[in-house]
Amino acid sequence: MSHKKLDVLAEKGFVVLDSYGDLVDPQEWQSLEYVDWKSSGDTRFAPLASAYGEIECNGFWHFDPPKPDKDGVWIDSQTDKAPTLTWRAQEAGANVGRARIIELQPNSYADALYNSHLDDNNRLNPDGEGWIVRCFMQLTHNPDSYMILREDIKDPSTETRLALPAGAQLLVDSERMWHSVWHAGAEPRYCLITSYESGPELEKWVEANNPTTKTDQVELPEDVVIDSEMEAQNRRNARTAFYGYDPTEVRSEA
Ligand SMILES: [Fe+2]
Repeated sequence: MSHKKLDVLAEKGFVVLDSYGDLVDPQEWQSLEYVDWKSSGDTRFAPLASAYGEIECNGFWHFDPPKPDKDGVWIDSQTDKAPTLTWRAQEAGANVGRARIIELQPNSYADALYNSHLDDNNRLNPDGEGWIVRCFMQLTHNPDSYMILREDIKDPSTETRLALPAGAQLLVDSERMWHSVWHAGAEPRYCLITSYESGPELEKWVEANNPTTKTDQVELPEDVVIDSEMEAQNRRNARTAFYGYDPTEVRSEA
């Protein structure tokens, strides 16, 4: 027995969905309570749903009783301030685990490659149940920033760059695909990230939003690609030497 997965993610490990359309009032994410939380890059998070309804972002397996990343508990003090964001996270009708807004400070392409990681989405998730994946709903308009995905972090030829205008929606098997964001803006980037359990509800919602993997690859100048790759790999190697192992071989709890 293995987990139930969405067929649509089998080929590439991600799909781009239709833009969600009407933009969300920035007041919704600006009014939320944020917590510092370890993730890739300089980040803070504002949870809408957490393991047991507290304003924190821990993996659900850290609690008593521990649980997989589903059956998240909505946090009234946060959802009251962000009704549209809450509705967006709930609209798919799938089981939601963690749902939170990420705030990411500007960084470089090399930073993004250095920070790239796999998520720990399915710890304690019983065999036979739905594989947990993540949906990224872009809030701020950052058309020159990119979600950087790789099937193999050590192989640049496996890279896909997905632009992040406001409204962009990406569904990613983030336990399979190495990922991080290169945020080239001057102001912080905000994005709603929701953990969903794969199943008929999620499949129906995805199909209604025209999933595709056919995206125009954003081309970068060759010297930028080479210099950033070398910088990132040198920094990754230095980090591995420092710790005695590559910490990104341990899936991220964020
Ligand atoms: Fe992640």
